[in-house]
Amino acid sequence: MAEHIRVLLPEEEVDARIQEIGDQISRDYAGKQVHLVCVLKGGSFFMCELAKRISVPVSLDFMSVSSYGSDTKSSGVVKIVKDLDESLKDKDVVVVEDIVDSGRTLSYLLEMLRDRGPRSLRLCTLLDKPERRVVEVKVDYTGFQIPDQFVVGYGLDYDQRYRNLPYIGVVEFDN
Ligand code: IMP
Ligand code: MG
Repeated sequence: MAEHIRVLLPEEEVDARIQEIGDQISRDYAGKQVHLVCVLKGGSFFMCELAKRISVPVSLDFMSVSSYGSDTKSSGVVKIVKDLDESLKDKDVVVVEDIVDSGRTLSYLLEMLRDRGPRSLRLCTLLDKPERRVVEVKVDYTGFQIPDQFVVGYGLDYDQRYRNLPYIGVVEFDN
């Protein structure tokens, strides 16, 4: 089936919001170093743009997870495909995600990371679909709350495509 992408959040709007979050994080972590943990692959575009806009010292690390169970529905049991390179002990950690949907992946992941002894642990997500929440997750920084629609771009994919779009779009199917 052919599909097309309808723009939901244009590039300028996304960039402006990331600047605001970067400013907020810079204020909140004044005098500290912030350790950004990117959840691959979706979080990578957002994390790079965000990191450029933070004015306190920044360090970065990456991890990749996959949820057990069917592809379409996350089970909440997360397998680490690629673990972090560095310890989180005594670091001020901000986990950077593309989207919080059911919340299953993040709630599991945050609990796991908290056990590694960070000084603080916060969650920053570009997008949030609150209507879809099944497991409660405390989100500290949110770019945009969006309705329950399947979105792509800025790191988010549909079947591994569209991650490179510089805006957020909704996948629509032609018939
Ligand atoms: P959950 O919060 O555990 O349900 O899983 C969130 C993950 O599902 C995200 O990190 C994305 O990889 C994926 N996801 C959820 N909604 C979307 C969407 O609208 N577009 C693309 N990926 C999505
Ligand atoms: Mg993700």
